[in-house]
Amino acid sequence: MLIRSAVRSWDVLKVELTMPPNDQNPFVSVLARQQAFNRRTRDNVEEFAPHRRRVTAEIVKAAGLADGCVAVLGAGNANDLDLPVLAHAFKEVHLADLDLEALEEVAGRYPDLDGVVRRHGGVDLSGVAARLDRLSETPQDDEIDELVAAAASVRLPDVGFAYGVVASTCLLTQLMNSAVAAVGEGHPRLIEVLEAIRTGHLRLLADLTAAGGTALLFTDVASSDDVPEIATAPESVLPALVARLSLEKRFFLGVDPNQLEKQLRGDPYIAPRVTSVRRLGFWRWRISKARTFLVYAVAFQC
Ligand SMILES: C[S@@+](CC[C@H](N)C(=O)[O-])C[C@H]1O[C@@H](n2cnc3c(N)ncnc32)[C@H](O)[C@@H]1O
Repeated sequence: MLIRSAVRSWDVLKVELTMPPNDQNPFVSVLARQQAFNRRTRDNVEEFAPHRRRVTAEIVKAAGLADGCVAVLGAGNANDLDLPVLAHAFKEVHLADLDLEALEEVAGRYPDLDGVVRRHGGVDLSGVAARLDRLSETPQDDEIDELVAAAASVRLPDVGFAYGVVASTCLLTQLMNSAVAAVGEGHPRLIEVLEAIRTGHLRLLADLTAAGGTALLFTDVASSDDVPEIATAPESVLPALVARLSLEKRFFLGVDPNQLEKQLRGDPYIAPRVTSVRRLGFWRWRISKARTFLVYAVAFQC
């Protein structure tokens, strides 16, 4: 089924919740799902190595000669970041994530980087996590209307702004998966919700980036669960595989690279703030022994 391709199977975790959302824990089930994911992948440092090198290299390239600050959205376990390299390239490295526990664990691994690496834990970068936790089991039209409006115009989270470089590291599909879990895979308006989340995320990247700075979006777009060749194809065949997936429209729903770039160039809020959009390419991200993602990256200059 079409919608299923939006859902990365490792995310559909059955999380046992001990309490409903409340004022102290407004997005308890969204957080519990992300924490479960981060705990499961925390030790997969070796598997992440080639992906980590590529992500880090693209962020460092974007730093240019400026001695600026970088914000990484969805930093989690930071297994996709070479933090010592980033700390060398930037004056400050800001890591933002919903999962405070994961960021604290990262800080424990790099005590020497304490002055350079700043953590923003417990921050909802979707702007709708609490709303997702409060949705009824079968959300009605008025709930979906409100969700779509809120998702498309994320309020600036408390993570600072005007960064020279802002990088979203495979966060977008996680934001979407939280929505899939709450709205329901079979809901007739799910696609609208996912598109609103994409819009909100791209706008947030533009808002956090300084004039003259660079926003980088890294996102997984397909999985070896659905397309086994993603894990097995020789490197030389990867471009042809990407072309075939694009032609057959087999990317995860809502993150088709052509749609993303079209939106960056045409969205009435983003386009006037963006001076150039550059596709950085596709590569593999081996997340565990059993699963590999195809990752796509795009850079836009603000
Ligand atoms: C796939 S992981 C990215 C990989 C991560 N950079 C690493 O190396 O472990 C996505 C991250 O997004 C975070 N996340 C998911 N939903 C979020 C939200 N609403 N706000 C902020 N962070 C969120 C998760 O906690 C997770 O750490």
